[in-house]
Amino acid sequence: MKKYSLFLIATGLIFGGCLKGQNDPVFPSPELTIPVDESITLQNALPFKFGAAVNNNILRTRAAYRDVVIKEFNSLTSENAMKFAQLHPGENTYTWSEADYLVDFAQTHGKRVHGHTLIWHKNPPAWVQNFQGDAAAWDNLMKTHIQTVMSRYKGKVASWDVVNEAIANEGGGYRTESIWYQKLGPEFIEKAFIYAHQADPDALLFYNDYGHEYGPTKRTAILNLVSNLRAKGVPIHGIGMQFHTRYTQSNTNLAAAINTAAATGLQVHIAELDIALNPDGIQDLTYSSGLAEQHKAKYEFIVRTYNAIPKNQQFGITTWNVGDSDSWIPSEYKRPDWPLPFDNNYQRKAAYQGILDGVK
Ligand code: XIL
Repeated sequence: MKKYSLFLIATGLIFGGCLKGQNDPVFPSPELTIPVDESITLQNALPFKFGAAVNNNILRTRAAYRDVVIKEFNSLTSENAMKFAQLHPGENTYTWSEADYLVDFAQTHGKRVHGHTLIWHKNPPAWVQNFQGDAAAWDNLMKTHIQTVMSRYKGKVASWDVVNEAIANEGGGYRTESIWYQKLGPEFIEKAFIYAHQADPDALLFYNDYGHEYGPTKRTAILNLVSNLRAKGVPIHGIGMQFHTRYTQSNTNLAAAINTAAATGLQVHIAELDIALNPDGIQDLTYSSGLAEQHKAKYEFIVRTYNAIPKNQQFGITTWNVGDSDSWIPSEYKRPDWPLPFDNNYQRKAAYQGILDGVK
């Protein structure tokens, strides 16, 4: 048994580069990172904004994280601190300290903040779930939330995901489990945009969702929603595509997502990019040079395709988290994974080089 494993490891080491996508051997971490060239950073190398979703707790406590955030990115999204339950836990209670912390940090370091997210079916606080009122009262609740939050950050946060994930995964209809849909009907979407625009007429307002790259059904539903809003004169300026994607996703689907969003003429934000390497949830999968190469190629393809859309529509690309150790994927999906361009210690992975190569 032992001999057999040694043989497998040796064979793997010899053929590792050829066995792409196999569960090939683990190399020591340094071999899975790329040499650091201090003169290069993502924010300097890329011709559009490159951002990350940031977690305040790690920002406060881990110097390596803080350093990489300051050095590499010029746009920040708060991973959780600007969501409804975090900002507005009671009907008459707003808790600003975490969102303020991120906004102050961004201002100190000269970084854009993208606001995420005003209205989402996930995480309505208990008081919203228990709220009793007619449609006018719900309308007022939503309006008050949007306008209170946007007014506080007016002049500091110039873009917002106004509505997040309103389209269902299957079938191309609305996500009917959303409390906003249930209380206000599909008009909650246009109302949210109108209220957001009233609060800050200068802010860029995005509709954010995932699955544009899954195939035509969800993508078309999202694009139809956006074009219907525009046809009604609703103030909407951008499409956020989350792109929680996987290394096995086809380039055809990824390109269709990016190019159809660009064809609307709106701002396009790849808003939550991560590329899973273990979408099938193999519990003993290990990160390997073969996977690293495919990861790199997928990052490069996405960046190359995005770089080819009109410059004035490139709002930017944001990765969801910074390094693999702070990715939401392993805890959310209960599996090992390595979806980001930085490893657990914030060293640059092959994917980092893929991002740079995407604009060459
Ligand atoms: C996730 C965060 O990363 C987690 O920490 C949190 O527990 C749940 O939300 N789509 C979104 C993001 O729009 O807000 C989600 O963020 C990931 C999926």
